[in-house]
Amino acid sequence: MDSKLAIFGGPKAIQIEQPHYMWPVISKETENAVLEQLHKTISIYDKSGIIDDVEKQLANYYKRKYALLINSGTMALYTMFVSAGLKKGDEVIVPVYNFPASVTPLFFIGAIPILCDAESVTGNIDPKAIEKKITKKTKAISVTHMWGIPCDMDEICEIAERHGLMLFEDFSHSHGAEFKGKLTGSFGNSAAASLQGQKILTGGEGGVFLTDDKEMYDKAILLGHYNKRALQEIEKDSPLYKFGVTGMGFKLRVHPLAAAIIHEQFPHLNEWLRQKRIFANLMNNFLKDMAGVETLDVPSYKKPSWYAYLFRYKSKELGGLEIEKFYKALKAEGCSEADIPKSTCPLNALPLFKNPNELFDGYKAPSPEQFPMAEDFYNNTIKLPVWTDSKDKVFVDLYLKTIEKVVINYRELL
Ligand SMILES: Cc1ncc(COP(=O)(O)O)c(C=O)c1O
Repeated sequence: MDSKLAIFGGPKAIQIEQPHYMWPVISKETENAVLEQLHKTISIYDKSGIIDDVEKQLANYYKRKYALLINSGTMALYTMFVSAGLKKGDEVIVPVYNFPASVTPLFFIGAIPILCDAESVTGNIDPKAIEKKITKKTKAISVTHMWGIPCDMDEICEIAERHGLMLFEDFSHSHGAEFKGKLTGSFGNSAAASLQGQKILTGGEGGVFLTDDKEMYDKAILLGHYNKRALQEIEKDSPLYKFGVTGMGFKLRVHPLAAAIIHEQFPHLNEWLRQKRIFANLMNNFLKDMAGVETLDVPSYKKPSWYAYLFRYKSKELGGLEIEKFYKALKAEGCSEADIPKSTCPLNALPLFKNPNELFDGYKAPSPEQFPMAEDFYNNTIKLPVWTDSKDKVFVDLYLKTIEKVVINYRELL
């Protein structure tokens, strides 16, 4: 690669037109699946047809008794919290470094999110920090497998069990990720995930709720799948059955066209994961000894889904060059898909978490707190896509070579 940096007028390292990464994969088969569903029915009131097909696919894959499709990941998370019987004032320990919607539904219940710092390697919730946050009011721990890397589930499950707490998982980033051979989404009392357009498994919009607990499942149905479906699935002798016609009042059904997309995409999940793992391995090997870059040290018993590939930027190793300057230089070279995520961040910095009292009754502004590990991770990581098609190796190679080019020439940027 030419050594003159593009930011100073040199030729761009990547000359291929954008976009370099397109997701989801919309094939002829996806189009056909949508058209077929369009002509069958576009409103499904109960557990039947394409809804039932996808729910069975997901329940089987995740080895869960129940899978319920929901219209978004955010509402799947809300369903997870409501169906667990959380009440006003209950405390739920959540990762501070997180996507906001993983936690915000708690505000509609009056439950208190207790933000917890990250561990330094992956940015995931730190089991050691969890213990310190447990009080008499703690009812649950809710983890998010950030960017597709499983959390430390041995420690987290043990803590939940020892303290008699419920455990929830947000596996929006980690479809198909495994911890010691077990899929994320199958550890907790219940789990929720987004199936929105960027997710590895997607319907464009949508979400899924998983549990083995019939009572939680019935409550999840009552929350957003009233009348036909509630009367079909809740047992007649259940105390919840009498609410079947109205449910709890929401309607959270997924669109059948979204279900048709998920159904068509699902059989590709494992081949995408396989290719992502090959590319992530290649990226790790290329970057692991490079100055200024630290790859995330993931133990072999964790098999990430590689929703994204994050590396740590080590400014000190490049003469103190700020991450923003390094990032701008990458962008100027044509790394259009490199990203520094903004809204996935330490949640304590967001106005809603600083002042929930201004929007929700019954909340106090929490006292300011530092989350040094989460902040450090957030401020010093750069995100790349992980491609799913072997033909895209050209992009993987180009992006890696471009990072190398900027590292080699970093002095020009100081
Ligand atoms: C970790 C995580 N949780 C929850 C959500 C919310 O899902 P949705 O956008 O489907 O409502 C997202 C979406 O990006 C997410 O990344």
